[in-house]
Amino acid sequence: MEKIILTGDRPTGKLHLGHYVGSLKQRVELQNKGDFKEMYVMIADAQALTDNADNPEKIRENIIEVALDYLSVGLDPSKITIFIQSAVPELTEFTFYYMNLVTLSRLERNPTVKSEINQKGFETSLPMGFLTYPVSQTSDITAFKANIVPVGDDQLPMLEQSREIVRSFNNIYGEVLVEPKAMLSNNEVCKRLPGTDGKAKMSKSIGNCIYLSDSKEEVERKVMSMYTDPNHIKVEDPGNTKDNPVFIYLEAFVTDEHFKKYLPEYQNLNELKTHYEKGGLGDMKVKRFLANVLNTELEPIRQRRKEYEGKIKEVYQILEEGSKKAQSKAAETLKEAKAAMKINYFEDEALINSHIAKYREEA
Ligand code: TRP
Repeated sequence: MEKIILTGDRPTGKLHLGHYVGSLKQRVELQNKGDFKEMYVMIADAQALTDNADNPEKIRENIIEVALDYLSVGLDPSKITIFIQSAVPELTEFTFYYMNLVTLSRLERNPTVKSEINQKGFETSLPMGFLTYPVSQTSDITAFKANIVPVGDDQLPMLEQSREIVRSFNNIYGEVLVEPKAMLSNNEVCKRLPGTDGKAKMSKSIGNCIYLSDSKEEVERKVMSMYTDPNHIKVEDPGNTKDNPVFIYLEAFVTDEHFKKYLPEYQNLNELKTHYEKGGLGDMKVKRFLANVLNTELEPIRQRRKEYEGKIKEVYQILEEGSKKAQSKAAETLKEAKAAMKINYFEDEALINSHIAKYREEA
């Protein structure tokens, strides 16, 4: 089966290390492997507006940030299509028809949406657009006939919803749409990077993120003030590496090469962990090492970002061209879908002829 890959991000902030290990890195690998027919990466501005309707400026400003982050990690518009969701109005049209294939109670059961509703305090003032964003996400995926959707595990309920809508559409109207499959990161640590404060997730609103666009100095400052094991008070104390974000980040980023270069007294992470757990290894030393590791990884990303920051006009052109390409694909699928739904009146010669015949007979 030919692979069509699609994924996306809401432009509500700059992208951080959590995005990087959780998805961006894997996308770049997929892109460079080239084992696909089409690959799309979407900036989901319309979805971002479902809980930011009163703050369009925020979305507008972050489109360029996310685009710069994409390009700086190595997503390459000559290999894949990067586009903006709202620039493909066909997606909205799909959503309107899909709404008929899903019930209110089904949407209310979506566990990711449920917990987001709680987080955002939407219990008594829930925007309909927010509740229905899984339907709109189904359009994002199916309009491109994407069969592979690389996402974090919080997106699994969206994919389940998408598959249900696809099955229901195909059952009623005929086989037009393709059932998508999630592609999860197979690396446990990469699934979710904790915040610098040790909380479960990096989140802009908490302020516990390291951004891809942070300077070397910012990365150093953030790492040096990271949460570690609160019971590891004196250097001699035995330390815990398991729920310790410093070690979790190392797990996600460190290579034996980094040890050779910055910490040659250890060969690998296991040795470092063993020493920390036994006692006698101070947090400062591990943090300084982590800062070096992160900066080594981030430096080429920063360099590329700087280049693109000097040609913003071209970045907008990339987005515009990508959006045009995406639109023409979505329009093709929509045309097929509308024909299957029998709402393609003007293209249906047989329909017109049958009505001519019907009224001729009656006359
Ligand atoms: N909901 C996704 C997120 O918050 C973003 C997104 C929108 C998406 N449309 C998509 C992801 C389609 C995959 C496919 O991260």
